Amino acid sequence: MSDAQSTTAKPEKREEFSGQLGFILSAIGSAVGLGNIWRFPGVAYENGGGAFLVPYLIALLTAGIPILLLDYAIGHRYRGSAPLAFRRVKRWLEGLGWFQVAICFVIAVYYAVIIAWALSFFVYSFDLRWGDDTAGFFTGTYLQLADVGGADPWFTLDFVPAVLIPLVLVWVATIVVLAAGVAKGLEKVNFVFMPLLLLAFGTLVVRALFLPGAADGLNALFTPDWGAMGDPNVWIAAYSQIFFSLSIAFGIMITYASYRKRRANLTSPGFVVAFANSGFEVFAGIGVFAALGFLAHEQGVAVAELEGLTGPILAFVTFPALVSQMPAGGLFGALFFGSLVMAGYTSLLSILQVVSASFQEKFGWTRAQASVRIGVVAAVLSVLAFSTTTGLVALDTVDQWANNIGIVASAVVTTVVVGWVLRRTEEMRFHLNSVSTIPVGRWWSFCIVVLGPVVLTSMLVSRIVSLVVDGYEGYAAWYLNVMGWGVVALFLVAAVVLTRMRWRVEPDRFDAWPTFGGKS
Ligand code: ALA
Repeated sequence: MSDAQSTTAKPEKREEFSGQLGFILSAIGSAVGLGNIWRFPGVAYENGGGAFLVPYLIALLTAGIPILLLDYAIGHRYRGSAPLAFRRVKRWLEGLGWFQVAICFVIAVYYAVIIAWALSFFVYSFDLRWGDDTAGFFTGTYLQLADVGGADPWFTLDFVPAVLIPLVLVWVATIVVLAAGVAKGLEKVNFVFMPLLLLAFGTLVVRALFLPGAADGLNALFTPDWGAMGDPNVWIAAYSQIFFSLSIAFGIMITYASYRKRRANLTSPGFVVAFANSGFEVFAGIGVFAALGFLAHEQGVAVAELEGLTGPILAFVTFPALVSQMPAGGLFGALFFGSLVMAGYTSLLSILQVVSASFQEKFGWTRAQASVRIGVVAAVLSVLAFSTTTGLVALDTVDQWANNIGIVASAVVTTVVVGWVLRRTEEMRFHLNSVSTIPVGRWWSFCIVVLGPVVLTSMLVSRIVSLVVDGYEGYAAWYLNVMGWGVVALFLVAAVVLTRMRWRVEPDRFDAWPTFGGKS
């Protein structure tokens, strides 16, 4: 009998989604986020275009869906957010849960800032405030970016009001909804925003497809560069994209699954969420690149000659430029930035819910206390670190390490521990199959036990080596040690410290259900 299974007390009453639809919409709301709209198109374009879809699909099938279902199984069977659920799997695993909570906290702190930018640009769409020089507007007028690494220091406390105001709004909205609860807050927001997002983004894509030059944009995105498939970095990009985009391996899906009734189908919603997320991602790629084709057409150049096709520059410099050149472009801009806000906000809610739920469970805080305390601390940090004139460089660095090191390391540890150390894969598969209509076969166990650890570990090692050897974006080494490796160290310290703190409620009075192999 494991530690978690040594008592027979009744399980506590947890918050619950109202039903399957609420869960699916909320899980899609979490998955479909900034990662889909502003990250995927650029990542796909940079990593082989059409050929990227092959590693991407393989990553989805061999790691994305298997780990999504593993997250569901852990959260649903052990009925807790990441620290509690992992602790119930095995007492010493609690730290892995806190490691994931720390990742969520850090991601939330900068993720909110990008939503704040999108909110500003949504408003600016109505009068095309960015003018003709969209690059100058974004980095100069809007972000008032310091010359980091040049004439200016790496950190300043020069706050940028245009970022600060929407950022405060985003945080207030997040705290209010989280305080309202899973069914009354989170789920309701997703019920409204998901259909609205589909409508807004769908309109945008259809409009984009009818623009002159759209076909050239699609050709640029989808023309395969098969040579790219031999490049390990392309594979790493595909797996990282899948993890971040599906919200897996950092506690979110564990937490969401824990709010489902004990008898609740897991696998089919998992497939629906995974394919809806990837579908939206490809859809976003089509919309964005069709629009870029139009921009290239207007400028009389090839799409490949356009600058700024990835990252924040794609969304906040290149996109505004094309909006300005379109007839009725303001509406197109509002649809794009409005979609970014809705998609990002529903993901932010899920990211912070992980932190809030973990503190409620461990320290006995009420939902309102947890939402306000955690939300306020996160908001203050996000203002201090990312709403200043040095915020963009900090954000870019933290994002790189949190994703490519933090999340991937968490996925490696989860699969190695469940698959090899504790050998609990079959128990998790049994759980999925006991409650679900579509059973998962041995292929799933194979992905968790063999493919996950082997592929992910090699990816992680290769990424660590390249960051150590090559650095990142030419930023100073000490800066990367603080904002990159320092953040990973912070995850580890948080995991150790929070695990050692005392539980205010009894975590181990719990029976896993249904009984597996003669024991619960
Ligand atoms: N899954 C979320 C995204 O794609 C975090 O942005």
